[in-house]
Amino acid sequence: MNETIHWTEHGRNMHAIWHSDSRHPAPSHIQTISQINTEQALRLMRQNTALLWRGDYHQGKQLLAAIKKRVHSKARTHTDFHKHRLQQAQHSRLFQQLLIEIQPDGLLKNNRAPNIAAALNDVFGSPNQHTLLLPLHLLLGYIGAHEWHKAGVAIPALNGKKIHIPYGVFSPVRGEYLELVAQAKLPSPCHTAWDIGTGSGVLAAILAQRGIPHITATDNSTRAIACAQANIQRLKLNEQIHIQHINLFPTGRTDLIICNPPWLPAKPSSDIETALYDPEHQMLQTFLTQAKNHLTPHGQVWLIMSDIAEHLGLRPKEALPKWISTAGLKLIHKTDIQPQHPKARQQHHPLAYARNREITSLWQLAAK
Ligand SMILES: C[S@@+](CC[C@H](N)C(=O)[O-])C[C@H]1O[C@@H](n2cnc3c(N)ncnc32)[C@H](O)[C@@H]1O
Repeated sequence: MNETIHWTEHGRNMHAIWHSDSRHPAPSHIQTISQINTEQALRLMRQNTALLWRGDYHQGKQLLAAIKKRVHSKARTHTDFHKHRLQQAQHSRLFQQLLIEIQPDGLLKNNRAPNIAAALNDVFGSPNQHTLLLPLHLLLGYIGAHEWHKAGVAIPALNGKKIHIPYGVFSPVRGEYLELVAQAKLPSPCHTAWDIGTGSGVLAAILAQRGIPHITATDNSTRAIACAQANIQRLKLNEQIHIQHINLFPTGRTDLIICNPPWLPAKPSSDIETALYDPEHQMLQTFLTQAKNHLTPHGQVWLIMSDIAEHLGLRPKEALPKWISTAGLKLIHKTDIQPQHPKARQQHHPLAYARNREITSLWQLAAK
């Protein structure tokens, strides 16, 4: 969301471009501040006064952390997925009221501020030319993501080679499903494969490593396409993998179609959530319905799905097998794996009852 917002400061009329990744409206009332305690800040923010932080950068970060801690400690625990998400959205809307100003070329005027030009460049693709106002917690997200992007994630299924993931692209840190893809029996013959919703390009890279000579990877997200291109280039797989910025399938037929769709049937609240949430499983259902028409006679569809939506009560257990069958597909083999990441073992998270029981599966399907 980009629009010009105005405020007055020491009697002067000020303006900047408002930048936020969420779909919340821009703040309508802004007060500049360089010192304030947590309670006062929270009171103003709850009254819809956004606070533009002019103080020391690190004190601003501490204020945000204190605000978050206070809000989280007083919040009710919702075990219902929708109520939990609504609460998260309300919190994020509140945290969005602590703002920071970024001068052109990524300059922060706050005392002790770091150089954030590289982090912004990573997100926007070029230095900002106008003065921006954005939530401090969003800026901290950009800075954290930039560090992760630089460091990369080592992928055991790629013999430890790294995939680099910038802000806004799905990260396979919960990567147990990658092992399933590395080990499953390929259809025979398997000269071509498609990776639908490639994200970082990691599944296409694993298939390339397994020796499939011609792979097409698609995604409908601009950020994902740029990320996949960079990873495939870095891994020197551009002879084998071609990337297309399209909705779902290329034209024609292929021996193998792989897809790890968004797992939760819910509405994304920002563009970067489209990798996680798929309203009413529309993408999944369209994928299944059309997949059969793109298979060669011995071709297979490999679908990666977690059953977390079932444990959260968002999808009946019988729905996925029914959609597979209605799409003219049959199950050849299913391999299950339990998530290994620390969140899956957390006991105190409101949704722990579902996360603790989650299983991720590779469904190997063929035309009936
Ligand atoms: C869960 S992520 C999986 C990314 C990657 N395949 C992986 O396993 O790490 C889902 C991906 O599907 C993409 N996607 C969602 N809807 C799509 C569509 N209609 N066409 C192409 N890609 C889509 C998203 O942008 C996202 O990158």
